[in-house]
Formats: sequence, C-alpha cells, structure tokens
Amino acid sequence: MSDLLRVVHPIPDEDWPGAEEAAGSRLFSPVALGRGCTLTSRTWVPAMVPWRATEEGEVTDAVLAWYGRFADGEPGALVVEATGIRDVPSGPLLRIGHDRYVDGLRRLVDTVRARSSGRTRVFIQLIDFLTIRRRPEPSLYFARFLRVDEGHRRRLASILSDDALRIAPDEQIRASLAALPEQRLDEALTARELDDLRRGYRERVTDLHLPHIRSLPEVLPGLFAQAAARAEAAGFDGVELHYAHAYTMASFLSALNDRGDGYGRTLEGRARLPKEVFSAVRARVSEGFVVGCRILGDEAIDGGSTASDAAYFGASLAAAGMDFVSVSKGGKFEDAKAPKVGQAAYPYTGRSGHECMPTVRSDERGPFGRNLGLSRVVRDAITAAGLSTPVVGAGGIQGYRLAEAALARGDCDVVASARQSLADPDWWRKVRLGRGAEVRRCKLTNYCEGLDQHHKEVTCQLWDRVLSPGEDPASVARSKDGRRRLEAPRWDDRPPSGD
Ligand SMILES: Cc1cc2nc3c(=O)[nH]c(=O)nc-3n(C[C@H](O)[C@H](O)[C@H](O)COP(=O)(O)O)c2cc1C
Ligand code: SF4
Repeated sequence: MSDLLRVVHPIPDEDWPGAEEAAGSRLFSPVALGRGCTLTSRTWVPAMVPWRATEEGEVTDAVLAWYGRFADGEPGALVVEATGIRDVPSGPLLRIGHDRYVDGLRRLVDTVRARSSGRTRVFIQLIDFLTIRRRPEPSLYFARFLRVDEGHRRRLASILSDDALRIAPDEQIRASLAALPEQRLDEALTARELDDLRRGYRERVTDLHLPHIRSLPEVLPGLFAQAAARAEAAGFDGVELHYAHAYTMASFLSALNDRGDGYGRTLEGRARLPKEVFSAVRARVSEGFVVGCRILGDEAIDGGSTASDAAYFGASLAAAGMDFVSVSKGGKFEDAKAPKVGQAAYPYTGRSGHECMPTVRSDERGPFGRNLGLSRVVRDAITAAGLSTPVVGAGGIQGYRLAEAALARGDCDVVASARQSLADPDWWRKVRLGRGAEVRRCKLTNYCEGLDQHHKEVTCQLWDRVLSPGEDPASVARSKDGRRRLEAPRWDDRPPSGD
C-alpha cells in the first residue's frame, strides 16, 4: 500500500469566515432529519471509539468527559461511538445489549445536552460484529486449530513427494505442515486457512455451516430493535445503524456476500437484512425518533462493492424510510495488514483503511474531502428516486471552505468531521463565532488511529502533552500509563482582545 502513498500534502491555509459570513453560510443553516428532529447546523461529529468504557461496556466519567468535550463545540449532531447491541464481553467499548446500560447512557445524553446548551442532537451508533481472534502462534494453529482433511493429505503428499502421507494420521499431518517452510504453506493450505494462520480466525457472514451465522437474519432485527428502544429510553435523539466498515451489516451489503439463502448474491439479496433490521427498529421506536444508517460508498477492496452498489443501497434504504444516510469508505478486514502473533487484525491498516481515514501521505488526489464524490453519488441516486433524505459526507474534511463548497456542490447535506473535531472539539463553534484563526488544525497523520489500533485511550498528538496556562497538572485526567491527558485543554473563549 505504501508504494501508492508517495505524495505528502501540506495542510492548506484556510480563509476563515467572519461571524457574519458564517451566520449566512449553508454549513450553519439548519436541516431536518426525519419527522421530529432538526439539526441547528449541518455540522456533524461522526462516531469515534475512544476506549474509555469499563470492561463491562458501561459509561464511565471518562466517557462523559469525552462526549462533553465534543459537545462544547456545539456541532449539529454528535454520534456516540459504535456501541454493541449484544450483551457479550467486548472490552472497553460501549454496550447497549441490556436494560442495565440505559442509566449510564442517559447520563451521557444529559451531558451532551447540557454542555452544548441544547444545540447538539445526539445519536448513538448501533453495531453488531462477529468473532475475531488474535493471530495464533503457528505451532498452536497446527496443533489445535487446523481441521485436518483429505485435501491436506493429498497436497502434502504431493509437496513432499511422499505417498504415505495420503493415509497418515492427523498428528503426523499436523507435524508435517508445521515443519513446512512458510512459502510452501501457500500450496498446502486453503486461502481461508492461510488467512486464519496469518491474520487470526475471523467469522464471515457467509459461514453458513455455523448455525449462529446462518440464523443472523432471524436474530439481528430483534437485537437492533431492542437496542434502539433502549437508546430512546436513554433520551437519544436517534440511532445510526452501523452498516459500514468491517462489521456484520456491512458484510451483508458487501459484493463478497454470496450467501445462497436469499440474503446475499444480488443487490436485492444483500440489502434484504439491512432493510429488515431497519423495519424492525422503526417499528419499535416512536415516530419522531431518528433512524439513519452509515454505509460504504465503496468498500475499496478487490471484488468489493463500488459506488454503483452504494447508489443502489442509498436509494433503496432511503425509500425504505431511513432518516439519513451517512457515507464512509473502506475500513475492511480483507486487506488489513497481518498483525503480530498474539494481536488481532485491525481493519484500517490496508488500502481500504487509508481510504476510510486518509492521511496527508497520500496519492495525487490527497486526503482533503477525498470521499465526497461517493456521498455525491449516493445523494444523486436518492434525488433521482424522488427523495430528499439527507446525506452525510465525511473523509478528510478539516476546513470551512471545503465544507461549505461540498454543501454548495451538492456532495452532501451535512458535513461530518471526525479527526478535526478530535484535534479541536471547539472548532465548529470557533468558526461560527468568526474565530476560525484559533482552530487547532488536524495534521491528518493518524496518531489517534494508531492508539485505537492498539486499544489504547484515543487522544490527539496536538494536545495530549500540553497544559493550558495556569492549569493545575494534578487536575488533569490522564491515560492509564499516566503520560497523556484524556481531554483537550479548555478553550478560553473570551475574545482575543480580552474585553
Ligand atoms: C479513533 C477513531 C475511531 C473511530 N471509530 C469509528 C466508529 O466507532 N464508527 C465509525 O463508523 N467510524 C469510526 N471512525 C471513522 C470516523 O467516523 C470517520 O469516518 C473517519 O475518521 C474519516 O473522517 P475524518 O477524515 O473526518 O477523520 C473512527 C475514526 C477514528 C479516528
Ligand atoms: S492525532 Fe493527528 S490525525 Fe488524529 S486528530 Fe490529532 S492531529 Fe488529527
């Protein structure tokens, strides 16, 4: 991948608007989502996992501080991180798979309302994911995980020119495979086995031999609907169904989904479960509660879905009644780098990962607004279907002019900005107040994403070792290793003149 990323793009200078220009801009104009919700502006902080929940998936003070800090910037919408809909252990990621999570989530909603003075609508991203295991020690893989079959015997006999291996016991086959040089394993194992060995075992939605995978279409609508009902009970303004990146629902939409049970193969088949999930959710929540989704404009992997698939899905989901469609790109396991032994694959390490969170080290096109062409394709398809469902665009947006131009061109109806909002949670407010010159601008180099990859509390390189003038170091909440502050320093929002 790195061969393609030869050009380093400087962060462009920005011509920030004055307060009056900002007040008259598209960006700071309201937009309605569904029947009962209006965003005060077309500014959006998309989901970002901060690794601050308890091991049980509960809201902590650090979670409240994280979302409160984004709310200080008063974006039109703030989407809470991908939150698991099942009640199963998943590390310090938020969960909503049981009623016991509702109280903590209500505190989160209250925090966002209070800190944004009611200007920010708060949604929660609902996610389902399948099992993924750490990359195994090869010896362990051959001794315990590999299921030996006739294919292994046949191929090994041919590789080692030893016909006796055709009838050898399993233990001998395991030992012979473990002793093969790495490059010969390509001949001895199937593509799936090689992937399990080099990246770690990972379930696919196409594993129909597994009963719990086969039954996903029966199980998931109910799980998503219950989670959405809990979100409403906690006071959220709506939910974002996570149909993007490397997770279950995106895998149903994927062009790689060849399930033969009516939930794969054709565009209609691939969209069937996402639409059934939506219907179940819609039926469980009240009319004004927002139900939208995040999809991929392009999977950015070999054989994956492209923009024309996304156009179909966007229009089809909008026609089904989605209140918004948010468009992302890539972020897949299929092209992820092989992790070290003992670590799990991370879906943002390959080309598709770069497309999802583009950095300044890029190709000629560069990172800035890189994926707006995709939200445009989806928006055009929705418009062509006679609908006006708002489309959210994201990817490398970290300046006002780019955001405003995207809205003017019709690339999207709402502008999402993740890393820039992390670099400076006050940035939307600074721009609206005509104080854009004070924005701490994201460098798009993905230090934050590296922390996410290693399951460490996410922070930003621009502020996590900085103290504000006069700030008491003892009062600053820090990461577990004590080295990084967890929250961006407060912005002194008195006018620069001090009057
Ligand atoms: C630390 C981190 C965590 C993220 N977690 C999520 C997530 O939970 N769900 C999601 O849909 N996208 C997630 N993303 C992707 C962002 O929402 C966004 O699509 C991506 O960063 C591109 O936007 P940007 O260029 O404005 O950063 C995450 C991004 C970062 C940097
Ligand atoms: S760590 Fe780097 S890429 Fe991430 S928000 Fe900060 S400046 Fe941007």
